[in-house]
Amino acid sequence: MATLYFLLCAILILQVGRACDVHAEEDLHTGDFLVKNYEMIPEVWNAHRYHPIRPLLSDYNNLYESRTPFTRPPLDVINPFKKYLFKSDAEEENTQAENRFILGLFNNRFPSANTWRPLANLPNRFPISYNPNFNNPYTPGSCMSPSGESGICTPGSVCSLFGGRPRSSCSFGKVCCINSITSCSGTVTLNNTYWQSPSTGVSAPSTCVLKVRPVANKVVEPLQKPICQIRLDFVSFTTAQPAAGTCTDTFTVTGTTTIAPTICGENGGQHMYLDVPSSSLTPTDVQLIFNFVPGMATRSWNIKIALLPCGATYLAPADCLQYFTAASGRVKSFNWQDVAGTATRQLNNQNYNICFRTELVSSQRATQMCLSICAVANGGDAFSITTPTGTDAATAAAAVVTATTNLANARTTLTNAQATLATAQTTLANAQTALTTAQETVTTTQATLTAAQNALVTAQAAVPVAEAALTTAQGALTNAQTTLTTAQGTLTAAQAALVTAQTDLATANAAVVDPANPTAVETAAIAAAQAVVDAAQIVVNDAQAAVTTAETAANTAQTDVNNAQTALTNAQTAVTDAQTTVDTAQIAAVNAQTAATDAQTAVDTAQTDVNNAQVAVTDAQTAVTTAQAALTAAQIAAANAVASAAALSGVGTSAIVNGVNTATCLYDFLLIAGARDSTNVEADRYCGNALNPATTPVATSVPVCISVKPFKMTYRTDGTEGAVAAGVNVLPAPADSGNVGFCLDYQEK
Ligand SMILES: *[C@@H]1O[C@H](CO)[C@@H](O)[C@H](O)[C@H]1NC(C)=O
Repeated sequence: MATLYFLLCAILILQVGRACDVHAEEDLHTGDFLVKNYEMIPEVWNAHRYHPIRPLLSDYNNLYESRTPFTRPPLDVINPFKKYLFKSDAEEENTQAENRFILGLFNNRFPSANTWRPLANLPNRFPISYNPNFNNPYTPGSCMSPSGESGICTPGSVCSLFGGRPRSSCSFGKVCCINSITSCSGTVTLNNTYWQSPSTGVSAPSTCVLKVRPVANKVVEPLQKPICQIRLDFVSFTTAQPAAGTCTDTFTVTGTTTIAPTICGENGGQHMYLDVPSSSLTPTDVQLIFNFVPGMATRSWNIKIALLPCGATYLAPADCLQYFTAASGRVKSFNWQDVAGTATRQLNNQNYNICFRTELVSSQRATQMCLSICAVANGGDAFSITTPTGTDAATAAAAVVTATTNLANARTTLTNAQATLATAQTTLANAQTALTTAQETVTTTQATLTAAQNALVTAQAAVPVAEAALTTAQGALTNAQTTLTTAQGTLTAAQAALVTAQTDLATANAAVVDPANPTAVETAAIAAAQAVVDAAQIVVNDAQAAVTTAETAANTAQTDVNNAQTALTNAQTAVTDAQTTVDTAQIAAVNAQTAATDAQTAVDTAQTDVNNAQVAVTDAQTAVTTAQAALTAAQIAAANAVASAAALSGVGTSAIVNGVNTATCLYDFLLIAGARDSTNVEADRYCGNALNPATTPVATSVPVCISVKPFKMTYRTDGTEGAVAAGVNVLPAPADSGNVGFCLDYQEK
């Protein structure tokens, strides 16, 4: 192999005009060598205090164990990048890079695109790009494309010769060469290779396996640093969603000492740090394995694979699958997304640590770290770990809202129906009153009519009587007048006899010769004549008296006739008046009857309305009763759901739910040791629907802070979203559904 190495060196010299450093291996176990040749570039934060310019380390195993930056001696050299300013260092890097270049060139087990070995430190005395957000950006010769891909500065011809993609430009006329592999097989030995899904798409079922070989072959590549850790950056990652939390499409990793969880779904932006056995001692192939089940699904990925040298300051601490090196940021469970819906996105069988480097905050090392749930914009749920299926609190709460609305509506309907009934009853009462009045009017008018009719009959009866009286009076008058005429004839005859007698008397008197001494005869004759006159006078007087009596009788009879005539006229007038009264009463009676009929109709109509309103009220009351029962049931369900959810949102590992001792936060939980809320309520385990250490029912999340360092969380889920049956030493737990995991913003303070 040594021969081969020299041969390769010779070729390399022809290609790029650089010498191979065959002596580098001799210095392999010295700290100086590591610093000078193996890019132990301190990451920026630690550099200011813990620059490992003289690591007190004797071998790679110790390097691995001692990588936690806090154990390192303080730094007294301010410029950590100083070594790169010296020509001799730069030339050593060139040499190292060139050796790798040869490895890539001749390692033709792989397609050229896969074996392109970015020339990690081709001559560049200064970094080409520096991105403070990128993990360990300061790698001499490394560069970043405008789209954020990591690459290596090489001459353009070299990049295209080995299948790299030139992107933007480096200094000294070089290009930023991006290395990628897009097949479902192959082996990666080159740092910062991008594994991308085949552009032709992924067939299903199928398996895509990429081997990662952290090579430390001292013969072929003597300056290859031993690799202790692999960092996977999921630039993009989409596979089928899990079924009830269990991945059907799977992404698994083998060959690492870190047990990576099986993941699937949406994981763009996520990363994994994977410890590997030091490649200098027990080189092991690491396999990245996609297994796709039959069925339609979007499947694409772009995974950056970084090989991290043992002893680097930027390695993740032991057993930290995820490692965050900024003072604030966002940490999400795998497959968490800000999307609406009730699909289960939480993955089963997760069991890993998430670690946070202690950062400088305002020039002081952070003393605590606070966590709060992410704000969501698209209807996502920032925290749900273990949500009981049958008593989903959110669903139950929604049912309560609906039932409350229904009850309110039913009550409104009842109120309206009752108002309608009251109105109808008032109308009925009024109509009944009107009917009574109308009926009374009918009675009254009827009585008036009868009375008038009786009066008419009476008046009519008086007319013949008056007529008879008149006839009688007229007969009496006629008789009285006849008597008067007779008496007046008698008087006239008596008066004539008197005149005759008086004439005879005068004659007798005249016949006396000597009026002084009437003779006897003469006296006798005068006396006789006188007697006749006296007698005639008596007759006249009697006749006169008879005439007077007859006249009086005639006058009386005349008065009677007049009176009878008046009485008849009065009787006839009374008949006429009575008839008028009868006619008027008759009209009033008819009108009253019509009014009574109308009133009866109104009563009937009002009664119908009352009956209908009564039915409506009864129906509305039934509806209210039903709605009330539904609300009560919904409230009970909600209370149970809240109780269950609360029992599952707390600190404990068991709670009495519906009388059964039930596991809570025992199978799926986020462990944040010593986390406290603002009121110093403390809990280690978090699950349920809220990030909250409260032991009472809660539905809201609160920020929690920890001061236990190093800052760390553990995420653990069991293998099922189904119920866990009670068993020996097994607490039962209800089934879950709709869990999505967590999204938390962290902030060191
Ligand atoms: C691989 O690249 C990263 C930068 O992405 C760098 O920090 C690391 O040192 C490189 N690994 C090796 C073995 O050079």
